[in-house]
Amino acid sequence: MKIAVFASGNGTNFEVIAEAIQKKRIEAELKLLICDQPKAYVLKRAESKAIPATILQSKQYPTKKAFETVLLEHLDRNEIDLIVLAGYMRIIGQTLLEKYADRIINIHPSLLPAFPGISGIKDAFAAGVSETGVTVHLVDQGVDTGPILSQQKVMVESDETLESLEEKIHKIEHSMYPSVIQAYIEKLQKEQVNS
Ligand code: GAR
Repeated sequence: MKIAVFASGNGTNFEVIAEAIQKKRIEAELKLLICDQPKAYVLKRAESKAIPATILQSKQYPTKKAFETVLLEHLDRNEIDLIVLAGYMRIIGQTLLEKYADRIINIHPSLLPAFPGISGIKDAFAAGVSETGVTVHLVDQGVDTGPILSQQKVMVESDETLESLEEKIHKIEHSMYPSVIQAYIEKLQKEQVNS
């Protein structure tokens, strides 16, 4: 199974995935990082792990379709089977969705459908909820919608700060994402054998 990770920012989830693949906790090959932010720290993480990275910025293309067509060429060239979004802050369009139906996974820092969007932790904290969490789901045309693969709850304590909540959520993401990715790969492989 050949994987591409898409990321826009810090890249802690990317790093955890790369390490899980090295340790064979995820049985896959990490072929490629796709990043839409030339200054993102995730690019440094990829460099230090010698994982090929491609920077693709949608603003350099006239349409989303043109952008995703070029993206697809990179995925085709690397024979990518599965796309893993790890802090990729861009909505996936029809061109990619059609080619990778049920083969794009995302992690989101809230208990979806609550608090979708780019600031799930902050929004949950500001709303004063007593629990929030992490969701891993398949990607469809919506924003953080799509069938849920796994969810884990996090309690928001009375003395919680935004920083302490962020720390708790990221810790859960890092333990949860590799195992959900591996379970999904096993499901895909079983389906392939039975087809
Ligand atoms: C993670 O918390 C991830 O859940 C979130 O971005 C962060 C990326 O952190 N994704 C979303 O909010 C998607 N809507 P990282 O760059 O350190 O992996």
